[in-house]
Amino acid sequence: MGKFVKIVFIVMVNFLLVAPLWSKEGSQKQGKMKYEAQGCDACHGETGKGDGPAAIGLDPRPPDFCTSTKHHTDAGMMTMIRDGGAKMGHSPLMPAYGNKLSEKDILDIIAYIKSLCS
Ligand code: HEC
Repeated sequence: MGKFVKIVFIVMVNFLLVAPLWSKEGSQKQGKMKYEAQGCDACHGETGKGDGPAAIGLDPRPPDFCTSTKHHTDAGMMTMIRDGGAKMGHSPLMPAYGNKLSEKDILDIIAYIKSLCS
């Protein structure tokens, strides 16, 4: 086995061992990656202020995560991200991600969003 393959193998095994420890609380680091990979930042902005490049011209604008009081509970954010704005009687401009993100993915993203405010 080449050295590189061995290192990759060890990293993978470690990941499998450590992953279950993350499952209860979302991981901010993973959340940041997923937030950016899904393009949330396009509307919500890099720092969650609702000032992403795609937010210009949206009506309503995406709220500042830190000052919005609409869905400040984890459960509210979970539903909003999973089911989208339309289903919650809010703007359909907030897409539903239930078919793209697992519950764990969304927990990670929520942990990241909350870290932006502290
Ligand atoms: C196309 C633009 C767009 C994208 C992409 C988008 N959102 Fe939104 N989002 C919105 C808008 C607009 C609202 C406000 C809806 C309303 O209040 O009527 C919103 C609302 C929210 C809220 C509720 C905030 C509050 O306090 O009211 C959360 C949480 C949220 N988005 C998370 C996300 C996450 C996480 C992603 C990526 C997985 C994402 N959004 C992608 C436009 C977007």
